[in-house]
Amino acid sequence: MNPVVTVPFLPWNRPSLGQEEEAEVLDTLRSGWLTHGPKATRFEEAVRDALGVDDAFAVSSCTAALHLAFLAAGIRPGDEVITPSLTFCAAPNAVVQSGGTPVFAEVDPDTYNLDPAAAEAAIGHRTRAIVVMHYAGQPCDLAAFRKLADDHGLLLIEDAAHALHAWRDGTRAGSIGDLAVFSFYANKAMTTGEGGMIAGRADLVQAARLLGRHGIDSSVWQRHGKQRTADYEVTVPGLKYTMPDITAAVGVQQWRKLPDFTARRAQIAAAYDRSLAGLPGLRLPTVLDGVRHGRFLYPVLIDPVRGRSRDTVADVLREVHRIGTSVHFQPVHRLAAYRHTGCHLPVTDRIAARQLSLPCYPAMTATDVQRVIDALHTIWS
Ligand SMILES: Cc1ncc(COP(=O)(O)O)c(C=O)c1O
Repeated sequence: MNPVVTVPFLPWNRPSLGQEEEAEVLDTLRSGWLTHGPKATRFEEAVRDALGVDDAFAVSSCTAALHLAFLAAGIRPGDEVITPSLTFCAAPNAVVQSGGTPVFAEVDPDTYNLDPAAAEAAIGHRTRAIVVMHYAGQPCDLAAFRKLADDHGLLLIEDAAHALHAWRDGTRAGSIGDLAVFSFYANKAMTTGEGGMIAGRADLVQAARLLGRHGIDSSVWQRHGKQRTADYEVTVPGLKYTMPDITAAVGVQQWRKLPDFTARRAQIAAAYDRSLAGLPGLRLPTVLDGVRHGRFLYPVLIDPVRGRSRDTVADVLREVHRIGTSVHFQPVHRLAAYRHTGCHLPVTDRIAARQLSLPCYPAMTATDVQRVIDALHTIWS
């Protein structure tokens, strides 16, 4: 009897974890200190120094970092925060959870990043902050947004969930905002399973740190062995968002590997650029001059022609070729919780209806990459 040959499913994303992460976690487990402590501090210092910012605080997710960012920024009812709609719901949700109102602005048709002119047009007397999101790992116009925020006395918050290792004109994404937030969620450019970081101005990160550990004026690691454990003050009513050391142990090793991960992602993106160029109705990502792209995503746009739409391509890739893809994003203004805003964002809608993210991650082999290329050529033939 012939064995049934099945092609293994190639997921849209898979993390790259090795013996270094295993050893670091084991070290933490054996140390007796599992929660936010020395490993989290090491991770924070590594991120802070790489970005060249004042301070960094390791938290349980990027969503937690966003919530802390808006609370630390003092966003309150009546305040407006400008954000793209072509993003994950985390930033708009966190604005609402802080009492503020997200105001959705249009993105650039080539980079899918927030358009500085559209953001400027959205500024009103209630605007307090602008959240930019570096789509796919390509930094937005950092200089333009810094100037816009300064000219209007607004806070600039970088949602750098996609841009852990990316530059524009020599400036690293996450280093220019008053605050920047990062995600180490399972599918990100590096991962801790769940996790995030908030980095930036000393006063704001300090406020976020206080709010993220119940409003307690010292950390449990700082008190450990030095003072009575219950000897603390709560100076503001806070939340619990700290990253545990078991998680940070994975983070310190993944952060070390991040440059290599990005280099491998760039190789895969270059292979797609070479091999997929010229397929009619398939638009490949635009990378601007002066950008060192983080390549978290390889986002293509698929024009709907003769029954071949983004969704049918994704279905055929999954069901026939056993290749996973993803969509970034359902525009937030189209989601039930935000439909009442009634925004008119035609560029966002056009991109969102066509966008598909192809697999692009360091755990892919050359054969995996060729499989994706061949599958797309077959679909287009
Ligand atoms: C742009 C963006 N911001 C924020 C988040 C939230 O990250 P986390 O899952 O770490 O809370 C995500 C997650 O996918 C994201 O894509």
